Amino acid sequence: MALARITVLISGRGSNLAALIDAANAGAIDGAITQVISNRPDAGGLAHAERNGIASCIVDHRAFATRDAFDAALADAIDASEPDLIVLAGFMRILGAPFVTRYAGRMLNIHPSLLPAYPGTDTHGRALADRATRHGCTVHFVTPDVDGGPIIAQADVPVLADDDAATLAARVLEVEHRLLPQVVGWFCAGRVALENGGVRIVDSPSALVF
Ligand code: GAR
Repeated sequence: MALARITVLISGRGSNLAALIDAANAGAIDGAITQVISNRPDAGGLAHAERNGIASCIVDHRAFATRDAFDAALADAIDASEPDLIVLAGFMRILGAPFVTRYAGRMLNIHPSLLPAYPGTDTHGRALADRATRHGCTVHFVTPDVDGGPIIAQADVPVLADDDAATLAARVLEVEHRLLPQVVGWFCAGRVALENGGVRIVDSPSALVF
């Protein structure tokens, strides 16, 4: 079977993108990252695409008067690459329902919290303010319900007494870099799917432990 074609959407540093590229290069994912799209021209992650010979483009949200216009331009850019999977890896724009529905079942997001706790932004600061003892990250299918789509997998870390938002974010980021390639690998192998609004595990569930 042909390798799955993967488009990755970023807004910034792109360390999760780099983890995906490394996993694909190592053969750990039955897929190829064929396209990177950033909504910010200055996103550091674009350099990872360039270094690895991956086509990239910018769809700058500031150039569009409305969310719908931005979403339409983004969809055009995505569709030009005919991806099997779209991964939001630190993509910091909220996408409209028609856009999300168009890619139902083939768009994943990584979020830096143990959803349903802390959707939205400043997840690490909010976990600290709540004196949470565990924190982590979630990979889920994207639905119009922002940060609310069906959860595929999570990874957690301890919150330490002397943590600040930066140290906690760094600890979570380490597990993000393992969880996201793992789940993308499962998707490309046909082992997870969105079905009837829930996650269907196609292979032995016991094998799907992070
Ligand atoms: C990651 O922590 C990711 O989980 C988060 O942004 C960071 C991007 O880092 N995503 C969100 O907050 C989405 N709501 P990266 O650019 O180095 O991958």
